[in-house]
Amino acid sequence: MKSLDQWSAADLEDGNPSLWPVAPGIPFAGLAERFGTPFFLYDLATIGRQVQAVKHAFGDRFQLLYAVKANSNLEILRFLHGLVDGLDVSSMGEVEQAILAGHAPESMSFAGPGKRREDLKAAIEWKVGVISIESLRELVDLHEIAHELSARPRITLRVNPSRPIAHFPLKMGGKATQFGLEEEEIGSAVEFVTSHSSSFDFAGIHVYSGTQCLHSDALIDNVKQVLEIVRTAQTEHACQCSRINVGGGFGVSYHEEGVQLDLRALSLGVMDAVNEFEKETHSRPTYVIELGRYLTAESGIYVTRAVSEKVSRDQRFVVLDGGMNHHLAASGNLGAGRRRNYMAVNLSKPGGEKQTCHLVGPLCTPIDLMGYDVELSAVEPGDLVGFPCSGSYGFSASPFLFLGHPTALELTHLHGTFKVARSRMRLVDFNDRG
Ligand SMILES: Cc1ncc(COP(=O)(O)O)c(C=O)c1O
Repeated sequence: MKSLDQWSAADLEDGNPSLWPVAPGIPFAGLAERFGTPFFLYDLATIGRQVQAVKHAFGDRFQLLYAVKANSNLEILRFLHGLVDGLDVSSMGEVEQAILAGHAPESMSFAGPGKRREDLKAAIEWKVGVISIESLRELVDLHEIAHELSARPRITLRVNPSRPIAHFPLKMGGKATQFGLEEEEIGSAVEFVTSHSSSFDFAGIHVYSGTQCLHSDALIDNVKQVLEIVRTAQTEHACQCSRINVGGGFGVSYHEEGVQLDLRALSLGVMDAVNEFEKETHSRPTYVIELGRYLTAESGIYVTRAVSEKVSRDQRFVVLDGGMNHHLAASGNLGAGRRRNYMAVNLSKPGGEKQTCHLVGPLCTPIDLMGYDVELSAVEPGDLVGFPCSGSYGFSASPFLFLGHPTALELTHLHGTFKVARSRMRLVDFNDRG
């Protein structure tokens, strides 16, 4: 008898080559029978391919960090260990999880606007590689803590640029925001760092202006903007940046097949900008990109089962056993400017006659809408409905206790072998055991 948490495709009979192009031949019906629904399935080989593609495009001039917030599943972090150069982390919870997966704290860059004094203290004590400073207040806090601990943490200053990049659908910079120091505050920050040099090992500048961008030109523009900020800081405030974290923001296509970021055009444009920067500044810093969704989104599919159907005032509703509780982003409630349907597929009847319906989750709220006016092969109760491109901001970004349904199971797949990467949990499993 095999252990219950590792099964090969041969143990499950119904592989279909065309349903999920990133990993053909996945036996969805067999998986659903054995493990129940809903579940997320992550194909690790796809993550490996994305990492290689970025590394190939940017070479060793850039360090590649994985942004853990996109998907913090332990198996994914384990798989990424040794593939990426480090991690972008946003909480000590993520640091703990990453250490458990084998990553060294020294390879991590810790950003995030709400760092408490105890987080800063823990980051120093755990020897997190770089702390990215988000405000003048945080800088003062870190100085005091470093002084108390007789430590000299390595820092970058996270800067909020004065100009937005137009094509970032989700903007974290270039406007009033809680992220980073204002570009105009760089002078004061550098002065504070310089006059307290026993508390800080100043590494450079970090900018993260936005994300989900599919336009290579806009992403090149973003990198140029970051380099310009560094150039100005170096000339006007006499600071030397050995590390320039240009952010990332590489987008993926959630809504239609075949739309891809032109990675080659992007890397050529970025390399030109970097070469020009180095020629002008006579320097050769370390550049960093931090990517979440671009590395993991396409690797994942969220699989639900249709449990019910109904017609309400001539409109057909198909009710699924999972929805925004497991995958808030697919319901359009995770910061998407304009709600658009995620891609959906009837995994049980891929070639069936098309019919229009609304796909809804099981929650008692009208925002649990997984697809509005979706056209896909007619879904009947019992059918499996999958949402591809769900390997990031799914489980890790959803209100999974809301309404008390069990959490989604998480599975990984690598070359025909499946593994339970996180078991399903019930509401009562989260009770205090004390
Ligand atoms: C500072 C920072 N780095 C990296 C990321 C990862 O973004 P994405 O998953 O879009 O690549 C984010 C996303 O919010 C972020 O805020």
